[in-house]
Amino acid sequence: MSNELGYQSGFGNQFCSEALPGALPAMQNSPQAVPYGLYAELFSGTAFTVPRAEARRTWLYRICPSARHPPFKRLARQLNPAGLAAPTPNRLRWGPLPELMEPTDFIDGLQALACSAEPDKAEGVSVYLYAANRSMQRVFFNADGELLVVPQEGRLRVCTELGVLEVGPLEILVLPRGMKFRLELLDAQARGYVAENHGAALRLPELGPIGSNGLANPRDFQAPVACYEDTQKPVQLVQKFLGELWGCELPRSPLDVVAWHGNNVPYKYDLRRFNAFGSVSYDHPDPCIFTVLTAPTAEPGVANIDLVVFPPRWQVAEHTFRPPWFHRNLMNEFMGLIEGRYDGKAEGFVPGGASLHSCMSAHGPDADTYARALLAPSQPARLEGAMAFMFETRAVLRPTHYALQCPELQTRYDDCWASLPIAFDPERL
Ligand SMILES: [Fe+2]
Repeated sequence: MSNELGYQSGFGNQFCSEALPGALPAMQNSPQAVPYGLYAELFSGTAFTVPRAEARRTWLYRICPSARHPPFKRLARQLNPAGLAAPTPNRLRWGPLPELMEPTDFIDGLQALACSAEPDKAEGVSVYLYAANRSMQRVFFNADGELLVVPQEGRLRVCTELGVLEVGPLEILVLPRGMKFRLELLDAQARGYVAENHGAALRLPELGPIGSNGLANPRDFQAPVACYEDTQKPVQLVQKFLGELWGCELPRSPLDVVAWHGNNVPYKYDLRRFNAFGSVSYDHPDPCIFTVLTAPTAEPGVANIDLVVFPPRWQVAEHTFRPPWFHRNLMNEFMGLIEGRYDGKAEGFVPGGASLHSCMSAHGPDADTYARALLAPSQPARLEGAMAFMFETRAVLRPTHYALQCPELQTRYDDCWASLPIAFDPERL
């Protein structure tokens, strides 16, 4: 690699970076003669004619143009080979993925749990768990959507076309659609969650009456600095295209961008930097108050996906049932737990596990949590040590066959609400 690990702070910025002095052309995007004999290549993440505020693109100055590759061939090993199961309105919950028995890299370790749209639709979300115990020896890009990675165990070194990011549990990573990367392990094993966003790219939510500060602040997002590989070793380039994996052999590393400028970039964010808001009088706000990133649809206020986190925080509202209420929502909720114990569940929802509550499915605190919260004193208390998150989506997530047949599926999940008492007494006010 050509450069030290470094970061540029901000969200949506027109970043620029060069690994060799003067590699960024001074006056034009694609001049006839790029410094150092590099090729200019445009990497577009949006249609050319979207409003300027929506446009995401990056100019790359690279050793070999991406166009120089042989035909891709469909790979024998595919993600989600059994496809989607029939939709179910039932509440679903899973334990963590089992221990890996074979060397497995990030691509082979992706396990699709649910999808909300066919891969040729420019909308919807696919949700995966991943488990890996070896670094990728190949380079991957996803033509089907943006990747939001939520590590739960193990640190990752992510070598991208634009530079290197290191990310671990309690951080998130976003890789733009089409960005080439190689994901390496910094620990013996890595596990986590991935949301594949097929719609408009993730961005910071509006803050409304909160004002100009709060929630995830732009300066806490970090993009890489330019860093290139000039290696002649053959490498496999894999892409996911309309849900299927294709590969070709390249004679040299495709992570060969020497300089770049633009706003279509990979980035990371430390969830511990989230500036959480809540009630200081009574009741608690809707969970959208914990939105880190959102991917909008054409319908105002309705997201293709929101990333919501439930971080450590003080709870001070008085005369208030503090865990999440019982609820039935339009939106669909996929939840994961990075560490600790979530305040809405007494047991069964463990780090590395997941739950799915679809449109209008009734859920809320389990019986033990409910009983404890009724007796909790109305005084300030700190929720400590847990970091849960939610992918909230507009469209119903259909489980895969794997998700409904794997041993990690908790077939008695409904039981956690079965012992909620009927305490109604018309004589007792
Ligand atoms: Fe919920």
